[in-house]
Amino acid sequence: MPPETRPVALVTGSSSGIGAEIARRLGADGYAVVVNSRSSIEAGQAVAEAVGGTYLQADVADDAQARGLVDAVLAQHGRLDVLVNNAGVTEVIAHHDLAAATPEIWRRLYDINVVAPFVLVTAAEQALRAAAPGCVVNVSSLAGVRPTGSSIPYSSSKAAFNHQTRLLAKALGPDIRVNAVAPGLIETPWTADWTDLHALVGARAPMRRTGAPADVAEVVMGLVRSGYVTGQVVVVDGGLGLMT
Ligand SMILES: NC(=O)c1ccc[n+]([C@@H]2O[C@H](COP(=O)([O-])OP(=O)(O)OC[C@H]3O[C@@H](n4cnc5c(N)ncnc54)[C@H](OP(=O)(O)O)[C@@H]3O)[C@@H](O)[C@H]2O)c1
Repeated sequence: MPPETRPVALVTGSSSGIGAEIARRLGADGYAVVVNSRSSIEAGQAVAEAVGGTYLQADVADDAQARGLVDAVLAQHGRLDVLVNNAGVTEVIAHHDLAAATPEIWRRLYDINVVAPFVLVTAAEQALRAAAPGCVVNVSSLAGVRPTGSSIPYSSSKAAFNHQTRLLAKALGPDIRVNAVAPGLIETPWTADWTDLHALVGARAPMRRTGAPADVAEVVMGLVRSGYVTGQVVVVDGGLGLMT
C-alpha cells in the first residue's frame, strides 16, 4: 500500500475518555488517526469512524501485541508521525493500606503504564525518525508529579513515566520529540464514581471544576505542534496540584 499522504497518529487506549478526545482533535487537524483499545472494540471502531481513521485492537501491556500494533500501523499506512501513549490503568487503594498494594498490582500497573509505552516507542523509533521530527506525547498524571493519586503503585508508575519521558527526549533528539501531559482530575468513565473528589475539586481547585478531556487534548495538540519543546511534563489540572 502506498504511504499515506496525511501524517499518521497512533493513539493507544482511544476508545473512550481522554484518548478518544485526542483522536478527535488529531483527526480534525488532518491526521490519519489509528484508534486502539484492548477490549472495548465496538467503542473503538465508533471513534475511528467518527474521526475518519482506522481501528486496531491490541493489549499494549503484551509486548508482542504492542510491537504488532506498530507493525500493523506501518503495514496499513506506511508511516507514523505521532505516537500518543494514552492507555493506562489504576487500582484505587488507600495510601496507608500497604498490604492491599500487592506485588501483583505493582507489576500489572507498571506493565501497562511504564513498560508498554517504552516497548511502543522502541517499536516505532525507526518510523518516527523517518518522519523527523517524529513526536511522542505521553498521557501521564498529576499523581506522578505530586505525592497524591489513586494508589501508591499508580502514582509511582506515573512518576516513572514522567522520568521516562525526559530520558527518551534526551536519547531520541533531534529526530524525535518526547513530551508528556499530567492531567489532574478529568471527567471520564475512569472517574465517574469519584463523586466526593469531583466535589472537592469543584470547591477548592483554583479553576473550581473537574477538567474535561478537551482540556487535556488541547495541550496535547499544543505539544504536537510545538517543534522546539521536548522532555517536558505539562500539568493540566486547573491548579489542583497547588492544593496538595
Ligand atoms: N481521568 C482522569 O482523571 C485521569 C487523570 C490523570 C491521568 N489520566 C490518564 O489518562 C489516560 C486515559 O484515562 P481515561 O480517564 O481517559 O480512562 P478511560 O476512559 O477509562 O480510557 C482508558 C482507555 O485505555 C484503554 N486501555 C486500558 N488498558 C489497555 C491496554 N492494556 N491496551 C490497550 N488499551 C488499553 C481502554 O480500553 P479498554 O477499555 O478496551 O481496555 C480505554 O480506551 C490514562 O493513562 C490515565 O492514567 C486520567
